[in-house]
Amino acid sequence: MPQSKAPYFPDIPPELARRFRKTVDDTKYTRNIELFIEDMAPAKGARILEVGSGEGILVVMLCKMGFDAVGLEPGDAYVRNAARLLEHNELDPDRVLLGCAERMPFPDAFFDFVISYYTLEHVQDLEQTFREIERVLKPGGRTFHICPNYNSFFEGHFRVFMLPFMSKRAFRNYIRVLKWLKFGRDRMPSVEFADSLCFVRPQRVRAIGKLQPGLRLSESNGGVISVRHGRMVFGNRKLSEKLKRSRSRDALYKGVEIVNRLRLGGLLYTIMMRRKWYPNIKIVGTKESAESSRPIRMGASTINRH
Ligand SMILES: C[S@@+](CC[C@H](N)C(=O)[O-])C[C@H]1O[C@@H](n2cnc3c(N)ncnc32)[C@H](O)[C@@H]1O
Repeated sequence: MPQSKAPYFPDIPPELARRFRKTVDDTKYTRNIELFIEDMAPAKGARILEVGSGEGILVVMLCKMGFDAVGLEPGDAYVRNAARLLEHNELDPDRVLLGCAERMPFPDAFFDFVISYYTLEHVQDLEQTFREIERVLKPGGRTFHICPNYNSFFEGHFRVFMLPFMSKRAFRNYIRVLKWLKFGRDRMPSVEFADSLCFVRPQRVRAIGKLQPGLRLSESNGGVISVRHGRMVFGNRKLSEKLKRSRSRDALYKGVEIVNRLRLGGLLYTIMMRRKWYPNIKIVGTKESAESSRPIRMGASTINRH
């Protein structure tokens, strides 16, 4: 496998190289880490948990950057590959543990950061996942997630158009019809896979935030593509370059060009942001520290900070 240009990208063991070549895009991983670091500015040595860590690529990258990173992953094969990848990069193979987000095998108040990328749409119970995140975070600890927004017009696993308000049941039936019409042929995942998806939406994140006042949660546009100042722009320069390279094939990019030519970008951006129709959602949160939730004494009266 050709050496990656990304400075912290893992060295891939030869027995995994074939599999990794198909699935790994180092630009994507570097971009994901940059998003987290720009937002949260973690200190060197910070203890970071990646939930749904797959083959441990981000865990290796974070360790190489000087963080104390571990992964949690429910797939046996993924955990085995992660162990080989870690070992090959001279890191402890037990840094990726077998387990799921809804029941994390960690003590309370253990991590400075809990992060995930494209995992929340796969968990079985989103509400329980956030309860666990709050539990394992240290007071003042922070959480950062990027995943698809199901309040949008595109489902990336099936590569199909969808409607922002579609229920999961409606989406499942829609996939059934598409399969019956032989749309997408064998490349489309199964109807059961549609059942397994967790529809993460801004409204749902807000509701979780209300249920967990101890974890101050907020959500926003998770990037990839957005429209600003009358022009469609991409959330990240590196990704934008990549999309430009595949201009001729990329229907999305063509759509962007049409919108730009018609000068509809600004209007579309305003509508997308108001309706929260962005394709990816970014969720960030901070666990209340004992300090910030402690009542402040003021003379005879006592007030709460929050
Ligand atoms: C799309 S992959 C993303 C992997 C990795 N974060 C990356 O960016 O390469 C989603 C991952 O979530 C994991 N996953 C599925 N259900 C999960 C759960 N309940 N708890 C934690 N991880 C889960 C899957 O096994 C898979 O590795």
